[in-house]
This record gives sequence, structure tokens and C-alpha cells, in this order.
Amino acid sequence: MSWTIDRERTAPEVLTIRLSLPTADSEQWILFTSDRHHDSIESDWVLETAHLKRARELDAIILDNGDLVDGMQGKRDRRGRLPDLHPELLKIMQSGKSGHPKDAYLNSVLYMCEDFYKPYATQLAMIGMGNHESSLVKHNELDIPALLARELRRYSGNGRGTQAMPYTGWVRLVVNVMGSHSTVKIFYHHGHGGSAPVTRGIIQTNRRQAWIRDANIIWTGHIHDGYVVPFTTHGLSQRGKPRDVTGFHVQTPGYKTRGNYEKERNMAPRVRGGVFMRLYPQKVENYVSALKMDFTLAFD
Ligand SMILES: [Fe+2]
Ligand SMILES: [Fe+2]
Repeated sequence: MSWTIDRERTAPEVLTIRLSLPTADSEQWILFTSDRHHDSIESDWVLETAHLKRARELDAIILDNGDLVDGMQGKRDRRGRLPDLHPELLKIMQSGKSGHPKDAYLNSVLYMCEDFYKPYATQLAMIGMGNHESSLVKHNELDIPALLARELRRYSGNGRGTQAMPYTGWVRLVVNVMGSHSTVKIFYHHGHGGSAPVTRGIIQTNRRQAWIRDANIIWTGHIHDGYVVPFTTHGLSQRGKPRDVTGFHVQTPGYKTRGNYEKERNMAPRVRGGVFMRLYPQKVENYVSALKMDFTLAFD
């Protein structure tokens, strides 16, 4: 098993994953996703499934940064519209196969997600809290990421097991690179505010960079747009050598297509998908000098 998840956390908002890259040509893949809005009628299940299957083939670590559920069709939600109920969800509710009463809407959403994600439970390391989930905590007193993660842990392999994570925090990849240790620090935040059609949230990447220290990757979702933007800082190494260090802002778009809400506001269509990252040792002459990261924008 090339990677495992620490059950003990150094802090509630820090997830530690350990992996090893034992040879110069070894690699580890990580799939960054967010905004699946899986129970929304506008969620692109075909693209989602393709990425989940690819992640399973690669034994990738899947990290999800919130809005996995949409959860807007409940009685207490003013935004709910019956025609927007996902046909699969309607089937689950009407057949009673979830084992819950037919009007137990949120139980059916959970059941549908458990059923869909359980074949990928061994890969799915993290389910973060998005504003859709935090709004369900606020109005329905129900923590969907915690319940879903607990259920999915029944299906994951040894040393793995989906972890529910808060709205913002860190993922720490502790890597054994050919015998020596290295750490990749990923700061994540689900995201906030509305979409910015012209700047596409790039201004926020500069703001975050100003106060988030030591992150190799700064990762956000929420605005349903996607890109990877590098940032380079200049500093002095432990050994007194000036050096430049490059990190990356990762913005994941999610899997929701343009729906009625976006059309009425004349919002442009945007990309869908996730970001695959390949982590591998960089060899200079005969020693490993650094961990390298390549990104593949798996966007449609
Ligand atoms: Fe979202
Ligand atoms: Fe969101």
C-alpha cells in the first residue's frame, strides 16, 4: 500500500497522509475536486465517474473540498423547486429502498451519495465542508460530510478511510522520498463570495498568498471556475543559500453544468472537472534534490 491516512490528527483541521516514493521513477497521483453538487439535476455524473475511475486505476489520493452535496430541495429551503429533484433521487425516495420514509429527503441524498461513492472509498481520503453542507448544519442540524465519511469508511481498504474535514484547514503529505523525508503542505479553503466573471478570483489568490505561510499549494473551490496559477517566493535556505521556491494556487471548478440559476442571471458557461497532480522525485545528477509537482487540468 503506497499511501495511508493518519487516524490521529495533529489538529482537528489538519489531515496527514503518508506515502513513499521509493525509487527515482516512482510517482503518486492526487486528484483535487470540489463542487460536485452530486444530487443536483445539473451535476455531470459522466465526467465525475470518468475521473473517479481514473483515480482508482492510478491509486490516486482523492481530496474533495466541499459542496459535494447540493441539498437545496428540502422543505426549509426557499430555493428548492420540485422539478429540480434529481431523477435518481426521486427513484430512491419513491421506491423506499433507502429504508427511510419517502419524505426523508436528506436521508435519501445521503443514501444516493453512499451508493455512488462506495466503489471509490479506498481512494477518497477527504470530504471537506462547503457552504452547501454548512448551510445544512445551520438549518437542519445535520453534518453530511461526517455521516458520509463514516459510512464510506466501511468500504475502504486497510490504512485508508475517508475523513470529514472542516471548511478550511491543511492536508499534509508526509513523503518518504528514497529514504529521506519531505512534506508537501496544502492549505485549503472551500471559498467564499460570488463569482467574478472578469477576474475569475485571481485577485483572491494574491490576497491569500500574502498571509498563508509555508503552503506549497493553496487550494480553493466554490466559484465554479478552474485554473492552476504558480507563485514564486524568494528566501534564504537553512544552509544560508538564497533560493526561489515555487508553489501553486489550485482552483477546482467542480462538476455542475450551467443551470436555470446561471441562465436567468446571464452567467457564462464555465469549465467542469478536477485537477490531477503527479508528485515525483526530481533527480539531479545522482541525488534527489526536490519533490516535483505536475498538474493536469482535467476540464471539459
Ligand atoms: Fe459550489
Ligand atoms: Fe460553495
